[in-house]
Amino acid sequence: MIRIGALVSGGGTNLQAILDAIERENINAKICCVVSNKEGAYALERAEKKSIENCVIKKSDFNSQKEYELALVKYFKERNVDLIVLAGFMVILGEDFINEFENKIMNIHPALIPSFCGEGYYGLKVHKAVLDYGVKLTGATVHFVTAECDAGPIILQKAVDVFDDDTPEVLQKRVMEEAEWVIYPEAIKLFSENRLKIENGIVKRR
Ligand code: GAR
Repeated sequence: MIRIGALVSGGGTNLQAILDAIERENINAKICCVVSNKEGAYALERAEKKSIENCVIKKSDFNSQKEYELALVKYFKERNVDLIVLAGFMVILGEDFINEFENKIMNIHPALIPSFCGEGYYGLKVHKAVLDYGVKLTGATVHFVTAECDAGPIILQKAVDVFDDDTPEVLQKRVMEEAEWVIYPEAIKLFSENRLKIENGIVKRR
């Protein structure tokens, strides 16, 4: 069974989708700890309800980004996690964290990478940018995390229609329901079955 650590910042609907899928589909994985960078994040309550160890580790408690990242590394290493999932985590992590868990960190991005991604594109801002551009298809992407923001090897993507009368909120909800909550658990299942191989920066599914 793989041990998963989650990093969250907000509502935690992706965390919930993962927890539900693990139970429903018998995925050989367990979320063993949840860390938020924000006090009061509802995702922490979701963890609490499932009796999952959880805490807040926030940047402002440390003197530098490096110290913050090293504290996160220590936390997850002590808990022997095999995979870290960023589930609506709104902090950009640097090499001090990423290099410690090479090809063992996943993120979900609410658009079809390489569109509408990178620094500044997060949460509702992504959906606003999609509507402002006028694309007719958007979606979600699960990818491995590398030092370059939203540029790591892509694991799964799913497209979602954009409609003329969408607001960022309406579009966000559709992208979550039709794409994010589907492909994130799926990617974790593939990882848990050791079916994801990275060759020259490209993920091959076996
Ligand atoms: C989700 O839409 C997720 O894809 C996005 O924030 C939302 C978090 O919702 N993440 C990013 O924008 C990261 N760049 P949740 O807390 O309910 O899972």
